[in-house]
Amino acid sequence: MEKKWWHSSVVYQIYPRSFQDSNGDGVGDIQGIIQRLDYLADLGIDAIWLSPVYQSPNDDNGYDISDYQAISSEFGTMDDMEELINEANKLNIRIVMDLVVNHTSDEHAWFIESSKSKDNDYRDYYIWRDAQNNDVPNELKSIFSGSAWELDEQTNQYYLHLYSKKQPDLNWENPKVRNEIWEMMNFWLDKGIGGFRMDVIDLIGKVPDELITGNGPMLHTYLQEMHQETFGKLDVLTVGETWGVTTEDAKLYSASERNELSMVFQFEHISLDEQPGKPKWDTQPLDFIKLKQVFTKWQLALDGDGWNSLFWNNHDIPRIVSSWGNDSPQYRRVSAKMFATFLHFLKGTPYIYQGEEIGLTNTPISSIDEANDIESLNMYKERLNEGYNKKDIIQSINKKGRDNARRPIPWDDSLNGGFTTGTPWLALNPNYKELNVKEDRQNKESIFNYYKELIRLRKEHDLIVWGSYKELLPNDPQLFVYERSYQDETWLIIINFYEKATIYKNQDQKVDTIIISNYSDSGKNLEQLSLRPFESVVYKLD
Ligand code: NOJ
Repeated sequence: MEKKWWHSSVVYQIYPRSFQDSNGDGVGDIQGIIQRLDYLADLGIDAIWLSPVYQSPNDDNGYDISDYQAISSEFGTMDDMEELINEANKLNIRIVMDLVVNHTSDEHAWFIESSKSKDNDYRDYYIWRDAQNNDVPNELKSIFSGSAWELDEQTNQYYLHLYSKKQPDLNWENPKVRNEIWEMMNFWLDKGIGGFRMDVIDLIGKVPDELITGNGPMLHTYLQEMHQETFGKLDVLTVGETWGVTTEDAKLYSASERNELSMVFQFEHISLDEQPGKPKWDTQPLDFIKLKQVFTKWQLALDGDGWNSLFWNNHDIPRIVSSWGNDSPQYRRVSAKMFATFLHFLKGTPYIYQGEEIGLTNTPISSIDEANDIESLNMYKERLNEGYNKKDIIQSINKKGRDNARRPIPWDDSLNGGFTTGTPWLALNPNYKELNVKEDRQNKESIFNYYKELIRLRKEHDLIVWGSYKELLPNDPQLFVYERSYQDETWLIIINFYEKATIYKNQDQKVDTIIISNYSDSGKNLEQLSLRPFESVVYKLD
């Protein structure tokens, strides 16, 4: 496999609304990010995945774009954006833009034209269908609740929206649409960006009349065309968001000879607390053995053929230290470091979501007035109508709601955590006085410093990037144990996933050194090794 920069990189995701406000309007912005580049350079990351900063009416916080070639005035100007790309590049940090091309905003000029009349030149940029028996064209559902079809009264046809009704789906079957997108991507590539994160890219090959949404028959043909028409000759990172992907699909996307993407995000591990076939709100307890099986399956399946992305968190997923870990004052730090150790020694490209590097926690709400996210608000209405009680709905939102990850970053313990001098668009987690960047970096148990060390290790050791993977003790109910080997070196990673203490035994392994641990005094005797709550250690074996 040809070695690329992104194989050995760590990517940091910025959700710009919540990162750093520079002008006191309560919304994070591009100048705010520029102010914090030194912080990111210190952490050691190689690229920033920047969630959308384009012009948008913000029905879905920027994932509804009304102009792909303009910056939202809340975030700044095109000059600010160019400054960010250049300043980041000076620090060897590449900017990976969010590419949201499954849908646009209904306020995009294309959709405004498209909805004017059935014979408008832009009509076929979107997916329009006649009513069926005075009702919606078919039973496709929106991921944000309700039917995926919305009636346009003026032309008396329905348009498809797999997300909110302000996010009409583009018609990828139309070559004009594809060409517009290639042109727009090239506009950004010419500015020197480091690649694209592609929003729900698995949906672009949909065949709505056959109820096919993900993984449609033309999907890979479109991606190969994209590769050829846009970034194919450039050294960039491309990562597709693909919810229902299997390991076989992932190879189609990411094997280098296929000329599609660098890698995909798969969500099999993170969806294990959801009941198969049910909405994400209907959770079930995490099955740890399955979690290990999923990781091992992906590690082995993409070895040498394709590439894994590695993540616990993003702007759609609650904070892992709260959902599957322990965010109590006693264990938050070791628990957060346990998740980091678990992931950062696997083969693939790790992604850190803003605030993860200081162990930020979820923010439970007690009433729907405290929620902002359209997904939670729509689900609340839908479930109230279906007869659920409010308390249960709020409980689901606290478990799976996206606002958990979207609260502004607390930089210090001053008013609004130094995020803004104005009124934050979404309240900070009330724990920000104790839990903020400044406090963490000063603490001798700093999570930030731990992440920094993980990133440094990846830069220094080819074993982490290229070594083979072998899982041990697959049936152990609380330990995740794996080895990575490269040339004649083997590292052993032992993760105690739970608070309960336990013992690891292996007569054949001898320790050379401890590479990293979330306790300062981890044992070295693998014949009989005691592990404390969440204790996670990486050994170089003798
Ligand atoms: C996935 C994005 O991550 C999410 O935030 C967004 O709501 C949907 N795609 C729709 O664009």
